Amino acid sequence: MPDPKYVHAAFSSIAAKYVTANHVLSLGADIAWRERAIKLIAEWAPRNLLDIATGTGDLALAVKKALPEVAVQGTDFCRPMLDIAIKRGLTDVFEADAMNLPLPDACFEAVTVAFGLRNMADYSKALCEFRRILKPGGHLLVLDFSMPEGLLAVPYRFYLHHILPRIAGVLTGNSGAYDYLGDSIEQFPRGEAFKDLLTQCGYTMPTALPLLCGIASIYTAEA
Ligand SMILES: C[S@@+](CC[C@H](N)C(=O)[O-])C[C@H]1O[C@@H](n2cnc3c(N)ncnc32)[C@H](O)[C@@H]1O
Repeated sequence: MPDPKYVHAAFSSIAAKYVTANHVLSLGADIAWRERAIKLIAEWAPRNLLDIATGTGDLALAVKKALPEVAVQGTDFCRPMLDIAIKRGLTDVFEADAMNLPLPDACFEAVTVAFGLRNMADYSKALCEFRRILKPGGHLLVLDFSMPEGLLAVPYRFYLHHILPRIAGVLTGNSGAYDYLGDSIEQFPRGEAFKDLLTQCGYTMPTALPLLCGIASIYTAEA
């Protein structure tokens, strides 16, 4: 499981370069994945939404732009990432550990977490905490990388462990942070295993939607 101190230090060190590196390394696919997430959120029509591990605010800002009627807040435990989110226009943010949120029970109609849960030390604890702050019947959306299955798995694994860290090293000056990315994707549950985890954490109606041959996935569930 990821070490929170290491994760915090890694994101603090790459914060200034994170947005560019993200778009380059995913060849812009992350933008389309967020648009897909927003279509699902629009169907739920929540009045408020908390974007957990919001980082530099990509998903929260995209939701704000596409769905201006939704009151969007962002939270992250890494101040340098949040400072960039604020500069980019996400002003309603607070610093907190996602596994221990300073919020009352049942206060949000939707919770999102993009490329964040995989970095947390205890997936179950985090998912239970997200459910605690969701209103009954509220919606969770998790967007994250997943390991593709079949023939694509072999070249993708090579890219993840050997090519991506080198490109990321040039872009951010910290290839170590991206060595960790590959390992965290290998360990993160995918598909049915992730749906089972959601059910174990008390959610209902879990769904899994593979994106780009399973390189990423969107999971949804109700609290
Ligand atoms: C890969 S970035 C994703 C940022 C953003 N959601 C996006 O889609 O670009 C992961 C974020 O998770 C945050 N994070 C990791 N563990 C966390 C925790 N336990 N509590 C709060 N934030 C956490 C990191 O600080 C980082 O900003």
